[in-house]
Amino acid sequence: MKTLLQLDQVDAFYGAAHILHRMSLEVKEGERVALIGRNGVGKTTVVNTVLGLAAMKGGAIQMAGRTVNRPRTYMAAQHGIAVVPQGRCIVANLTVEENLQLGAAVARKGFWNVPEIYKLFPILQERAHTPGTALSGGQQQMLAVGRALMANPSLILLDEPTEGLAPVIVDQLGEIFNKVADQGTALLLIEQNMTLVTRVARRYVAMAKGAAIAQGEVHAGSLNELHEHVMV
Ligand SMILES: Nc1ncnc2c1ncn2[C@@H]1O[C@H](COP(=O)(O)OP(=O)(O)OP(=O)(O)O)[C@@H](O)[C@H]1O
Ligand SMILES: [Mg+2]
Repeated sequence: MKTLLQLDQVDAFYGAAHILHRMSLEVKEGERVALIGRNGVGKTTVVNTVLGLAAMKGGAIQMAGRTVNRPRTYMAAQHGIAVVPQGRCIVANLTVEENLQLGAAVARKGFWNVPEIYKLFPILQERAHTPGTALSGGQQQMLAVGRALMANPSLILLDEPTEGLAPVIVDQLGEIFNKVADQGTALLLIEQNMTLVTRVARRYVAMAKGAAIAQGEVHAGSLNELHEHVMV
């Protein structure tokens, strides 16, 4: 299977702060991978390095099988990688539908378009013409996922998409992630909710201090093993 994203022994920095230490990670076509670890271990920095927002000073990154020497923010999208950033980042003065269209700016051909997104999230259609920030937290997260899908990516990086959301919304999002993956899009799910991880992911990579320290398969009985990597 084709490798969609690979970090090989990556060192990454914010200014002089050395955050990722020989971090390695691989996601192949159609895979459902969870990236887990305690607060501050560097999970978001993995995303930021892929986007060129943290400086890569050692190791290598491949996107869609191509080596990317100096990642830049637009390159991920060009290689079929969409990001749902931590904190959602909905554009305040655009409507729901305009926020969705924003995601299509670098769209490739594929299954996802506005009508398909509305089938997935009927609430977004009901609220199509309201400002993005007038939505509840859960609806904003749905919008952020919809916006990422509009690019028809082969891989979506989801950075703590259920942070701060009510359990019923977390369940709904879990179902959505499974539908998206069933449709063929690979997922890298950064999550603190291990129950959700067992429902969505098939494989996990655990981080500590900026490096991958463990990995394994995820199944219904994985909860205890997963919790060991996130308990404080
Ligand atoms: N812009 C920045 N400049 C300097 N240090 C930063 C910056 N952003 C994050 N850090 C530091 O980098 C380390 C890793 O942060 P990162 O956000 O990647 O962690 P995380 O695993 O995503 O945590 P969380 O689960 O809380 O989102 C932390 O020690 C953090 O304080
Ligand atoms: Mg983070």
